[in-house]
Parts: sequence; C-alpha cells; structure tokens
Amino acid sequence: MQPLTLSVDPADLEHVRRCSSTVPRIAIVLGSGLGPLADEVEVRAQVSYDDLPGYPAPAAGVAGHAGRLLLGTLATQSVVVFVGRTHRYQGVSAFDVTWPVRLAAELGAETLIVTNAAGGVDPTLSAGSVTLIRDQINLTGDNPLVGWPGPVGGTPFIPMGDAFDPDLRSLAREVAASQGLSLPEVVYAGLLGPTYETPAEVEYLRRIGAQTVGMSTVPEVIVARALGLRVLGLSLVTNVAGGAELSHQEVLQAGRDAAAAMTRLLVGILGRL
Ligand code: HPA
Repeated sequence: MQPLTLSVDPADLEHVRRCSSTVPRIAIVLGSGLGPLADEVEVRAQVSYDDLPGYPAPAAGVAGHAGRLLLGTLATQSVVVFVGRTHRYQGVSAFDVTWPVRLAAELGAETLIVTNAAGGVDPTLSAGSVTLIRDQINLTGDNPLVGWPGPVGGTPFIPMGDAFDPDLRSLAREVAASQGLSLPEVVYAGLLGPTYETPAEVEYLRRIGAQTVGMSTVPEVIVARALGLRVLGLSLVTNVAGGAELSHQEVLQAGRDAAAAMTRLLVGILGRL
C-alpha cells in the first residue's frame, strides 16, 4: 500500500500556478452563505473547482455551495480564497475534503482562516452571532490523516493542544472589540451530517462542552496543523441547534444577514496580520 502524502495532484497545482503567480500568505475558506466576503477580494485569478479534477467538487444543487477559488489581495494581504467547500456528508473522504488546505500550503500559505455556518448549542447564542473558535471536538468518527505516516522523519501524532492559534485569537478579539462586535469564544463540535441534530444530541453536545455544532472545518484544521499552518476559525451561528423547523434556506439567509459583520471583522484582522 502506498503511504498517503499530503500533496495535491501536481497537475492541479500547476493549473492554479499557471493562472496567477500570486504566492498567497493567507488561505481563507468561506462556508455556507458566506460567499459575499469574496466580493471584497481584488481578484487576480479565479479558478472553478470544475477545472481542478483532484478536488471532488461540491455537489451541484446544494444551494450556497458554488465552488471556485480566488487568488488576489484582501486588505493588502495576498490571499487564496476558497468560495465553498466539499463536505464529508457528500460522500467524499475526510482526506479529500481537505484538498483546499493542502493546495494552500503548497502555494505557500502560512495561515488558514476557516469560516463556517454553525448551529448554536449554547443557549446564549442566537442566529446572527459571530463566534471565534477556541477549540474543536472531532465527532465525525473519522480523521483525514488515517494512513499518513507523518512528515519525513516524523510521526503522524500531531499535537492539537493549540490547534486554534492563541495569538490570532487574541488579535481577533482586539479587532472585534474595536468594532464594537461581540465575539464569544466557542468550542465547535464537528459532526458528519447531513442530518441536523436531535434535541437529545444537542443536549449531549452541551454537556460535553460544545457551544456550536457544524458539519465542516474539523478535518481542515487537522490537516492544517499537520502541515504547520496557523489556524483562525470564525463561525457564524445561523440557527439554534436542534430546532424542529430548521431549513437550509434559513441557514443561508442568516448567513447573508450577518455576512457584513463577518466581512468587517475579517478585513480588520487581515489588516493587522
Ligand atoms: N447543525 C449542524 N450544522 C449546521 C447547523 C446545525 O444546526 N447550522 C448550520 N450548520
């Protein structure tokens, strides 16, 4: 059996490099409904996921998950921005969903900013709350690094003690305070999905110390740490978890409504990195 490597298909890497010589310092993954953040990017090149065969593109038809990557500048920083991501619940492996992170590292990025839509588990959170991820709980029952022997001369036992970079978190808190934005720090529980949680599951998540829940991000953060990237995670609460009437449309609408606050925060953080 061939050991797993964290590189992406060289043809995909070449294709992206041919589109722009931009060397991004920062990679940003935009989650469900957070696409409007992409409008702030001074775009030098745009590549559709359809033209990158190594990345199993987000399934057509799941609204809000249109897929493309942008290379350019945002708040003076050179960035690669992934608009939309593939989720594990779409039938793709935990390893394959981490393709954007692995590509970003190969392009030269040193920092990963992950954003997502999440359900609020903590009763003090409501739709529209912007949160800072302090830590995560991997409840997907899977790990993208299964089969990876570790870096050359190393082991696959990656420390996850400071998975979400303490300095970046403190910067995010400062910027939020300067903008008058409340930014609670949360533990994000990552589940496989695609079903939303039952009330009993939400109660369980609350008891094990999670404040938010979602179906993405966790594998990306694991691979980012394996590749030595610093990680910042911002989560938009789009709904109270466990509600009976929850629709994907509501999740997307809440995302659109609070996207402006998230955009300001992100631009403010980038300006100070
Ligand atoms: N649960 C899981 N994932 C989510 C939710 C939720 O309530 N809202 C947005 N993504």
